[in-house]
Amino acid sequence: MTERVYAGTLRREKVGRKVALAGWVQKRRDFGELIFVDLRDRSGICQVVVDRERGASEETVNTAKELRSEFVVRLEGEVVERTEGQKNPKLATGDVEIVATHVEILARADTPPFAVEDDTDAAEELRLKYRYLDLRRPSLTQNMMLRHKVAFAVRDYMNRNGFLEVETPILTKSTPEGARDYLVPSRVHHGTFYALPQSPQIFKQLCMVAGLERYFQIARCFRDEDLRRDRQPEFTQIDVEASFINEEFIYTLIEGLFTEVFPLAGIPVPVPFPRMSWHEAMERFGIDRPDMRFGMELKDVTAVARTIEFEPFRAAATVRAIVVPGGASLSRKRIDDLTEEAKKLGASGLIWVKFDAQHASSIKKFLTDASFDALRQTLRVNENDLALIIAGKELKVLDALGQLRLRVAREQGMIPENRFEFLWVTDFPLFEWDEETQRYFARHHPFTSPAAADIEKLESDPGATMARAYDVVLNGLELGGGSIRINQPEVQARMFRALGITDQEARQRFGFLMEAFRYGAPPHGGVALGLDRMVMLMARAESLRDVIAFPKTARAQDLMSDAPAAVDEKQLDELGIALKKGT
Ligand code: AMO
Repeated sequence: MTERVYAGTLRREKVGRKVALAGWVQKRRDFGELIFVDLRDRSGICQVVVDRERGASEETVNTAKELRSEFVVRLEGEVVERTEGQKNPKLATGDVEIVATHVEILARADTPPFAVEDDTDAAEELRLKYRYLDLRRPSLTQNMMLRHKVAFAVRDYMNRNGFLEVETPILTKSTPEGARDYLVPSRVHHGTFYALPQSPQIFKQLCMVAGLERYFQIARCFRDEDLRRDRQPEFTQIDVEASFINEEFIYTLIEGLFTEVFPLAGIPVPVPFPRMSWHEAMERFGIDRPDMRFGMELKDVTAVARTIEFEPFRAAATVRAIVVPGGASLSRKRIDDLTEEAKKLGASGLIWVKFDAQHASSIKKFLTDASFDALRQTLRVNENDLALIIAGKELKVLDALGQLRLRVAREQGMIPENRFEFLWVTDFPLFEWDEETQRYFARHHPFTSPAAADIEKLESDPGATMARAYDVVLNGLELGGGSIRINQPEVQARMFRALGITDQEARQRFGFLMEAFRYGAPPHGGVALGLDRMVMLMARAESLRDVIAFPKTARAQDLMSDAPAAVDEKQLDELGIALKKGT
């Protein structure tokens, strides 16, 4: 009996079996009466031999001669062990081949615009335009399979923990996650718009008011924001909310989820994860999502700096440094580049000191032997280390130095690969001050509960109010964030006021939530994890585009379908929309 098998699964154990396969031609090599075909399907590649001397009919040989890359074929044959010397250790199926007795062309293919193989040098734009061909490349196919396994494991885990998957609307109203909304005009109600959800935040809280108690959803979210390698305009969250719980419940739940999910990619997950307050993360790493795979922590050198006759040190609120191990060998050009980078990051400049024989430094003329030694001691440097120092306002200094730390570590090869460092960041301030608009913003979102002891500070000292919020971080990437929510309508109203949202505006934007809170809202909280980011790290991929089937470019375009696109005049008329001239 002929058994239908997948190409990539063939191993020595299958030798002697009669099999049928279907897939795409990766490559064909023609030696006249003997033809080799590499057949690819979603599981991998195996070699097929069409050989007149090994039972292939003339017709089969002739069909095989017609094959070209990406033709779709069905074939039958026998699994045979390759002779020693013919084995290919680079291929998972390299010990065997299929001696074909029958080959059938199911569909012909034009020459593809790029070779469908993992080490392609085709430009990403071209690959995105022909995404369906790109997805045939084994590494992307593997990523899609991994993503499926992750989503499946998540559903299974959440189900076992009593969570209900609830679908929340896509055509909805603005949700305050801080990005711009994607809007959808209403045909029935001219002049009004739906907003695509930036997250299901309000709906999941309403599920709690509705008494569903434990909600989750693998939810599509839409945010019109500046895109980067770890941001897409539409992305997927594992969105979670539960009632009658506290922070510890969320930590344990998510750690448990990760111990089931990450091992799917061979990544061990030691639990519990370490925890670090936001304040400590900023002080030690200059960022609220520290990459814990390497050290090079920030050091406070304000006291020593004050003893140096260098005006910017004397005037600055704070002076911080990082020590680059062996960095004294960095060229002047590299250090100048870092200085430029520091300026771009908002620092007024970058001071450097080399702890080598020359004591080279950008402030050499201000550095006495005593101050040099004091710096050496405070920073606990070794011979040939380099100190990079920034002076200025605290948050600016920490932020700039935190970014430099990452850049230097990448350039110096200090980040160990294949290491996975999970971390909870806790105790965030509730608000963030925005210099430009001179007002406070919610650091997470306006539904996050203030710490119980800080509720009175909402009006009197908003900057010092702490939040019951947490982020889960992996290797310097924010995988997820959440909080315990406000469930008292008066506290919610005070929160809106602290954010400068008038009562009327609050009623108009979130009235339905405020009203719901009046009918018995249980204490509740939750979290949302970036599914794309999780899979990206698990797949060791460089960009979210490698783990999303049909992603968008950094300019939010789908190069394959050509979205976004102009629409017919008639469609606009129906929607009551006229475009402004010049758009
Ligand atoms: P937040 O805005 O922190 O929280 O989002 C949660 C997680 O979603 C992922 N994420 C993204 N992934 C890809 N592309 C994007 N543009 C993008 N934006 C966010 C990140 C992030 O950590 N409603 C709250 C959660 C809550 O409070 O429960 C929320 O959406 O991994």
